[in-house]
Amino acid sequence: MDHIWTTLAFSFVLKCVECSGSATKWTYTGAVGQPEWIEFFPECGGFNQSPVNVDTSQTLHDPTLIPVQPMGYNQPGRRPFILSNNGHTVQMTLPHWMGVGGLPSHYSAVQLHLHWGNGVGIATGSEHTINGQSTSAELHIVHYNTEVYANLSEAMMQKNGLAVLGILIETGEEVNQAYGSIFNYLGRIRYAGQKVAIPSFDLQSLLPENLSQYFRYNGSLTTPPCHESVLWTIFNERVKISHSQLLKLETVLYSSKAEEEEPTILQDNYRATQPLNHRTVLSSFIPVSVQIYTAGEIAAIVIGSLFGCIGLAVIIWFIVKTIRLTSSWDVLQSIQPAPQPRMQDANEHKQDTDLKMTSNQEKTKDTEHQPET
Ligand SMILES: *[C@@H]1O[C@H](CO)[C@@H](O)[C@H](O)[C@H]1NC(C)=O
Ligand SMILES: *[C@@H]1O[C@H](CO)[C@@H](O)[C@H](O)[C@H]1NC(C)=O
Ligand SMILES: *[C@@H]1O[C@H](CO)[C@@H](O)[C@H](O)[C@H]1NC(C)=O
Repeated sequence: MDHIWTTLAFSFVLKCVECSGSATKWTYTGAVGQPEWIEFFPECGGFNQSPVNVDTSQTLHDPTLIPVQPMGYNQPGRRPFILSNNGHTVQMTLPHWMGVGGLPSHYSAVQLHLHWGNGVGIATGSEHTINGQSTSAELHIVHYNTEVYANLSEAMMQKNGLAVLGILIETGEEVNQAYGSIFNYLGRIRYAGQKVAIPSFDLQSLLPENLSQYFRYNGSLTTPPCHESVLWTIFNERVKISHSQLLKLETVLYSSKAEEEEPTILQDNYRATQPLNHRTVLSSFIPVSVQIYTAGEIAAIVIGSLFGCIGLAVIIWFIVKTIRLTSSWDVLQSIQPAPQPRMQDANEHKQDTDLKMTSNQEKTKDTEHQPET
């Protein structure tokens, strides 16, 4: 046994030497794809991972959740934003005076980035899903807790260290100018490692209009090292970009460096949803779910009403029968004093004794059961 453990530990150390040699080697598919992340980054196998599917029939409405308050988002300042391709996504650094309020602590902005799919088939690309449905892309605006932690590297390892706003993106007919402020420069950072300075713009226009309806839960970074330090806010309202804007996002960037011989297109950079594992997803509102009852509840309702109807029918049948019996006795007694045929008499006696028998049996059963209780 000891031998096995030493070998395992040794191979693990070897692997980690490999991975520290090229820290950004992880990918979404391939040799160090999602199933392998856990080998190199153990936290990716934790119990509080992100993204998750938000099942609106299971969310808990918390009326104390106030609207999200973006701070300084619409005062971008004169200095340009830096947009970069890090091989995993397109990322934009954010000025420290921007932040988000309405959360348990104050959080300062760090960066924003996107996740998307490949444009084939149904809309996939978002990391979070609502009632099992993905959208074409998702924007994450990352903040860290400046009230409790000294810097980002410290905060990203700790509980409540980060707060990320998640915005689900779908396609529509119109061009979204705010998202255009980013997408227009993708052609300048096609390869991993490239950076470009872009004119600053009003970040608030990247958010949906309604900031009072959202889901909140404790989760993790959705990329290695998957630290479980994120307080997530997923807006219920989705934002729309045009089909051609989405196509640009899906096709312009490479995950490979300019000097690499075979360029690899940067697509499908979204992580699969992770198990909720007893976590509660709070909602700031009462979600209108199409499916009000679950299949089990519907079955219970149908069976319940069926038994109800049968019960009612039986009661009515007994009442009707009793009325008929008594009235026919009345008629028989008053009009027909003539003796009844013997057969019928005998039958009636038999029924009586039968009844007595059963009631006696029940009584004995009752007494048998009594000592047990
Ligand atoms: C972050 O803060 C911690 C604790 O104060 C410190 O040890 C560390 O050097 C800081 N890291 C950076 C990158 O500033
Ligand atoms: C957000 O939605 C809620 C509920 O539908 C509504 O009361 C509120 O006015 C909306 N807010 C905005 C800014 O649209
Ligand atoms: C997140 O975890 C903290 C404890 O660290 C807890 O106080 C808080 O209620 C949790 N938030 C949600 C939305 O579950």
